[in-house]
Amino acid sequence: MIIVILKDIAFLSMISVSLAIIMVIAQKWLSNYGECKIDINGKREITVIGGNSLLSSLSDKQIFLPSACGGRGTCGACKCKVISGGGPLLPTEKPVLTAEEIAAGDIRLSCQVKVKIDIKIEIPSSIFNIRRYHAVITEIIDYTYDTKGITFKLDEGEKIDFLAGQYVQIDTLPYASVKQKVSRAYSISSKPEINDALQLIIRYVPEGICTTWVHQFLKVGDHVSLTGPYGDFFLRDTEADIIYVAGGSGKAPIKSMLEHLQVVGTNRKMTYFFGARTPKDLYLTDEMKALEKVFPDFKYEPVLSASVASDNWTGKTGFLMPYFAEAIRDPKNTEAYLCGSPGMISAVTKSLIEHGIPKDKIYYDSFG
Ligand SMILES: Cc1cc2nc3c(=O)[nH]c(=O)nc-3n(C[C@H](O)[C@H](O)[C@H](O)COP(=O)(O)OP(=O)(O)OC[C@H]3O[C@@H](n4cnc5c(N)ncnc54)[C@H](O)[C@@H]3O)c2cc1C
Ligand code: FES
Repeated sequence: MIIVILKDIAFLSMISVSLAIIMVIAQKWLSNYGECKIDINGKREITVIGGNSLLSSLSDKQIFLPSACGGRGTCGACKCKVISGGGPLLPTEKPVLTAEEIAAGDIRLSCQVKVKIDIKIEIPSSIFNIRRYHAVITEIIDYTYDTKGITFKLDEGEKIDFLAGQYVQIDTLPYASVKQKVSRAYSISSKPEINDALQLIIRYVPEGICTTWVHQFLKVGDHVSLTGPYGDFFLRDTEADIIYVAGGSGKAPIKSMLEHLQVVGTNRKMTYFFGARTPKDLYLTDEMKALEKVFPDFKYEPVLSASVASDNWTGKTGFLMPYFAEAIRDPKNTEAYLCGSPGMISAVTKSLIEHGIPKDKIYYDSFG
């Protein structure tokens, strides 16, 4: 009896092992797409090994589409036009595409589309200016208990040209038990006039892969790699009045814009609202206040949403929105630059539109 049972077990084990081997071979065979061609803008053709995402296939060839969420299909930054060869729209793409984009059918998330056959795409020519840079960390400043300013000195001879407000993506290195490397977006906080080094302001996100690495493992002297510059959140060269609104590490791109304006000079009327919870969330306050004496018409207004009596805070409190009216003199001739959490961006945008600022003059980077 026992022998019969053992024979049955051995027979079943053999079948499972054989099935597993057949599945591995089938998988390899099915996902072996060989070489595929990517036609870019009808002007350039690259050859890649099929099977990877369009985003990573392009980045392997040093063509860097923005990918603020690191390819998780949540930010929409990696959208591009796929003329042919992209296959059907995937369920993972729909949540971040607009109804118009879904109807058009050719706007796709390059982090989700796999290159399996020859594919034709269109991307803006500005993408070709985005490069990979290597840098060494030269300074780490603790701005607050959860926010650091980090300076990246580019390798000898490397120079990055960017516009005040744009961002880079830094690539993490494996640390502790985290073996996976990720790429995350950070706005440049230094001015574009310094092009052989960059400063970023990085706020710790509990359990965050990149910010844990930055806050607990990254140190002066470490070598890192980054790509950029990305984004259309940059200071427009006009004479319009400006309202800046930032929260937390959203101060980074505004700092770059103001430092740039200090170099080139400006007479623009500018008001900067910085939202924070308590005094311990404020940083660079003296530096921002000092700019009131540099520019002819500039006001820095920190606003605390959760200050208590013992803080002895005498400045503005509560929501930011009630203070906008006094800062706007000619809404049609006012630009707004917003940076911070998605919730803040949407509430502030709604209020600025109600105050008469044209929607197309409200520029923002949402850190969500
Ligand atoms: C264009 C752009 C510019 C940015 N610039 C800056 C900058 O200058 N400084 C800066 O500090 N950050 C900036 N960010 C945010 C940054 O890219 C990362 O998303 C953030 O640092 C978290 O990365 P992580 O790997 O540590 O967290 P992840 O491992 O990606 O996330 C861990 C968890 O935290 C949640 N989470 C992610 N981000 C946040 C957040 N900000 N607040 C609360 N919960 C969050 C996630 O949903 C997830 O559950 C920017 C984002 C964008 C899109
Ligand atoms: S990289 Fe964020 S959606 Fe594709």
